[in-house]
This record gives sequence, structure tokens and C-alpha cells, in this order.
Amino acid sequence: MTSTANARTGETPAARQKRVWDKSAPSYDKQIAFFEKIQFGGGREWLGQRAHGRVLEVAIGTGRNLPHYPADATITGIELSPAMLAIARQRAADLGRDVDLQEGDAEHLPFGDASFDTVVCALSLCTIPNPAAAIGEMKRVLVPGGRLLLLDHIGSTWPPVCAAQWLLERITIRAAGEHFTRRQLPLVQAHGFQVVETERLKAGTVERIHAIKPS
Ligand SMILES: C[S@@+](CC[C@H](N)C(=O)[O-])C[C@H]1O[C@@H](n2cnc3c(N)ncnc32)[C@H](O)[C@@H]1O
Repeated sequence: MTSTANARTGETPAARQKRVWDKSAPSYDKQIAFFEKIQFGGGREWLGQRAHGRVLEVAIGTGRNLPHYPADATITGIELSPAMLAIARQRAADLGRDVDLQEGDAEHLPFGDASFDTVVCALSLCTIPNPAAAIGEMKRVLVPGGRLLLLDHIGSTWPPVCAAQWLLERITIRAAGEHFTRRQLPLVQAHGFQVVETERLKAGTVERIHAIKPS
């Protein structure tokens, strides 16, 4: 799920993410397809079934959720890495889907308040440098009553697995800003969302969240 690239002096966290994911883009689809089989199975379908109306996907990557959105939804995607975005554009064209794909930062969304009915973010809050800021932005751009749909890998409920994840992220955080024990649910709750559904799967290493921005 991550590409290694050593941190460079003076580089901002966002610039590092852009560099890491630009480098990872050519191999991302092949790599993530493996994890979709063994760890995230059904997750993209779960997101697509709950998305409706004007949908914003934050950190859309190569657009792997695109085939799962309802045909009548309007899709906008934002992504830091131009190389990931180029693959998403090709995927949208192959699907014959009109998708507004833009380069941008999840922590500073270039959209007005209350612009979307649904905000989706998959497998990305583990790597976005300031996930609390990103969730705050997701809340801002949602309409009151709008849906927040998250899918991510998190620290396991099994202590030995969680310990292994903690050890692994000692390397991946430094190399690529990738966290394995970060959890999004407390941030979602701290931002005042009303949590409607959560599912924790695969020894607790995967969490799906459906929350609502209060009216
Ligand atoms: C593991 S990939 C997931 C891609 C896609 N969401 C998926 O489900 O396959 C993480 C993505 O987050 C993007 N990303 C990281 N930080 C970001 C930020 N601050 N703003 C927007 N995208 C960001 C990366 O460029 C990368 O494409």
C-alpha cells in the first residue's frame, strides 16, 4: 500500500506525499488489487452502495471506487498526486463516466461549504499528513445531513498483530508517511459527526465508517 522514498530535508509533508505517490502510481493498481482480495474485500462495494447525489471522493488515487458508484451520482475526485490522477482519468474514460477530477490537498479542499451530499475517503486517511484537518474539511463541504463514508486499515484488536503493525510503521511513517495503527473513528466523533454504522473486519485491521453531518 505504500512506496518507499526517504524523507528529504525541508520538504513539506504534502510535498513528500506527492513525491511518494507519484513514484508509486505505476504499480499501485497491481499492488492494491492483492490487498483488496485478502484484506479489503467488499469495501469498495460497501462505499458505492451508500454514496448518493453529489459525491466527493477525497484522495481518489487511481479511481478504483469509480465502478461502484450509482449511475445517477455526480462524482468529483480530488487527489494530491498528478500521476495517480492520470490513471483515474483513464479509468473514468474507460468506464465512460464523466468525473470531475482535480489536483488538490485534502487538508484544504477547493470547494465551498455544503457542496456535497456524500464525501468518501478510502485507504487514505492512513497517509494524509493531518487527518483531523482533512476530516474537518470533509465536514465543511458536506451539506447538513450529508454522508461521510470511510474505509481504512487501522491497528488490529489482536495485541500481537497490533504490535507488529506498530513495529512496521516505525519504518513506513519515516519512509512514506504511512500509518498502520492510526484510527479515524475518534476523529470523526470529535468533529461532531453522528456515527450511523461501523464495521471492523479482518482481526480489527479494517474499519468501515458511515457517519452523518448533523443538521
Ligand atoms: C493508498 S492511496 C489510496 C487511493 C484511493 N483512495 C484508493 O482507494 O485506492 C492514498 C492516496 O492518498 C493520496 N493523498 C495523500 N495525502 C493527500 C492529501 N493531503 N490530499 C489529497 N490526496 C492525498 C495519495 O496521493 C494517494 O493517492
